[in-house]
Amino acid sequence: MRITQDIRYIGVNDHKLDLFEGQYVVPDGMAYNSYLIHDYKVAVMDTVDKNFTHEWLDKLAKELEGRKPDYLIVHHMEPDHSANIQVFAQLYPEAVIVASAAAFRMMNNYFGTDFADRRLIVNDGDELPLGRHVLKFFTAPMIHWPEVIMSYEKFDKVLFSADAFGKFGALDSYDDDWACEARRYYFGIVGKYGAQVQALLKKVSGLDIKTICALHGPILKEDLPYYLGLYQTWSSYGVETDGIAVCYTSVYGHTKEAAEKLAAMLTAEGCPKVAVTDLARDDMAEAVEDAFRYGKLVLATTTYNSEIFPFMRTFIETLKEHGYQNRTVGLIENGSWAPQAAKIMRGMLEGCKNITFAENTVRITGALNDASNAQLKALAEELTKEYPKPSAEDKAKQDPKAMFKIGYGLYVVTTNDGTKDNGCIVNTVVQVTSTPNRVAVCINKQNYTHHIVQQTGKLNLNVLSVEAPFSVFQKYGFVSGRAVDKFAGMDVSRSGNGLIYLDQYINAYLSLKVEEELDLGTHGMFICSVTEAQVLSKAETMTYTYYQNNVKPKPQTEGKKGWVCKICGYVYEGDELPEDYICPLCKHHASDFEPIK
Ligand code: FEO
Repeated sequence: MRITQDIRYIGVNDHKLDLFEGQYVVPDGMAYNSYLIHDYKVAVMDTVDKNFTHEWLDKLAKELEGRKPDYLIVHHMEPDHSANIQVFAQLYPEAVIVASAAAFRMMNNYFGTDFADRRLIVNDGDELPLGRHVLKFFTAPMIHWPEVIMSYEKFDKVLFSADAFGKFGALDSYDDDWACEARRYYFGIVGKYGAQVQALLKKVSGLDIKTICALHGPILKEDLPYYLGLYQTWSSYGVETDGIAVCYTSVYGHTKEAAEKLAAMLTAEGCPKVAVTDLARDDMAEAVEDAFRYGKLVLATTTYNSEIFPFMRTFIETLKEHGYQNRTVGLIENGSWAPQAAKIMRGMLEGCKNITFAENTVRITGALNDASNAQLKALAEELTKEYPKPSAEDKAKQDPKAMFKIGYGLYVVTTNDGTKDNGCIVNTVVQVTSTPNRVAVCINKQNYTHHIVQQTGKLNLNVLSVEAPFSVFQKYGFVSGRAVDKFAGMDVSRSGNGLIYLDQYINAYLSLKVEEELDLGTHGMFICSVTEAQVLSKAETMTYTYYQNNVKPKPQTEGKKGWVCKICGYVYEGDELPEDYICPLCKHHASDFEPIK
């Protein structure tokens, strides 16, 4: 591949690598870049990883077009670029190795020779003419090893930038957002050395750069001020994007609930971007880049062994190692008997430069309650006070009542736990494909039916008709099959899978076999194939709207003050309905209640 008339690309793509540098996931692979400059003299710029020796040598031989290389320029000694120096030196004995003095010392460590008889040591500002192309060298210590040099080719105005401006990802992988993986790469690998990157940016600021050739990632030709600007922001620990990173660990889900609740509050309070990371399950390098990307960070963790949860400790230590600074930090702690996570997290970050702690800290002692919910709200308000609040018009565009306009049918799902039959009312059912027929059924994880379907992998879907009376909903919807045998003493009919289908009040049933389950947090979605299907009557299907208008009795709210469940009519008496209230009858959430008028 030609970069200019005389500069060729001879790098390789690695799609087999599991972890770059033994720790960073690289789902899109990695590129080890190497270049060749044709002129009166021929220069090769760096080698590649040891797993690609022959692929690289083949490319080199092809681009040499029968010539011999005069120089091997070694910008960086990390093995992903230097592994083939000795192979090259043996194959091309006339070539001179060009590097910094520190790099030659490292060659001695790696290869047992510092090429004393055929080397050229270069320093800051030295030049190497190849013909019309001239390389000017810049030392760039700690970007990201001490021996690093960069070179500027004056004729074509190309900066060979070593690891700077590199990114994760092979060059043949699709990538429409350079910054995403370049940021994760920068903060993971170079981020500690902001001062050194600043010094380099100063050095190259007077150069007329048309192209940047890094050792990883694509060749950058257009919009160079964008890339240089991001490096300026990153290396000065500035805020790149207005927003808040929320990073949590959670043992039993309560801290997770708090982190997610806070994230929703931050968004509702006008925060333009909220990034939430589970430090135990998500890529921690993503969390690190988010912590540096945004101006504010919320840390939520549990007290654990009189310490903090290990993933949070690792995360904070990683931030500190990478020079974390200039940020506002909010803290959420959880501890069932002696919470001290906030104090520990604060202590760990106190040595970092220019960290402002939010005044409001959230303390959870097990599960969220009124007091900790209020603290979450106060923290959300404090962290978002400078953001414009959503306008009345924006709020009007977030009307939860729109959800009620989605059409639903109503169904009884029948199952058998091995000892008894069970039935449960479900409304979230949809046929998702027809060749073959696939039906998606969502069931609340709190329901015993969810457990039985997970255990047995089969269910019958009874399609309720408009003939079904309210008693059907009471029987299958308001009590748990864990406690009650809903079919005791009944004569029942069974389909081929052995499960009951209702003899009354349905117009059809489908026997379903679970093919896949998707975890949706509160619900599980079962994607099912259809093993049997029968139409039993011509009656119309019961819809949720029909149920609301014609089946559900009017709630007995006369003389009562409080809230009524729109699903089953249960009345909650009191001034305030708790935000996380669950209807004891039908298990629907507080959002399905309305005030008694
Ligand atoms: Fe790509 Fe620092 O090696």
